[in-house]
Amino acid sequence: MPEQRLTFEVNGKSVDVNLPGDTPLVHVLRHDLALKGTRLGCGEGQCGSCTVLLDGNPVQSCDTPLWSVEGGRVTTIEGLAEADAPGPVQQIFLDEQAAQCGYCINGIIMSVTALLARHPRPTRAETVAHLDERHLCRCGAQARILRSVDRAMNELGPVTGAPE
Ligand code: FES
Ligand code: FES
Repeated sequence: MPEQRLTFEVNGKSVDVNLPGDTPLVHVLRHDLALKGTRLGCGEGQCGSCTVLLDGNPVQSCDTPLWSVEGGRVTTIEGLAEADAPGPVQQIFLDEQAAQCGYCINGIIMSVTALLARHPRPTRAETVAHLDERHLCRCGAQARILRSVDRAMNELGPVTGAPE
């Protein structure tokens, strides 16, 4: 694809790029914008480690061409942090040590944020279905991840960070 000028928002800031429209969003985030919190795993839309929010919806950024982001609002894990501190969902995942290698976790936190922003009291089955559909954790941290979601649901009230 030829280069095209594309404008979108990342973590509340306007971004202009001149790149081929089929460039995967994850490459722009990591290489052009130095937002390394978005992980590149399989690169094939299978593992969910690259998940970010696009207009509040979780998307796999390895499988999201840049042309589809034009005019949209992207939120990455960096956009959930508060000043130099983790955001509230991140802090709960840290407190629960809900990771082993941690590679999958940033993407999972993005999906959990979107879930709780839209559906503040999901059942365990709804949470599992939401995460199963999008994420792989090869380390077996699922029990701690689910415990973190329960705590976030019970302690945080309405979760923000996933713009409408
Ligand atoms: S790196 Fe995007 S889904 Fe695996
Ligand atoms: S903590 Fe290692 S893949 Fe999930």
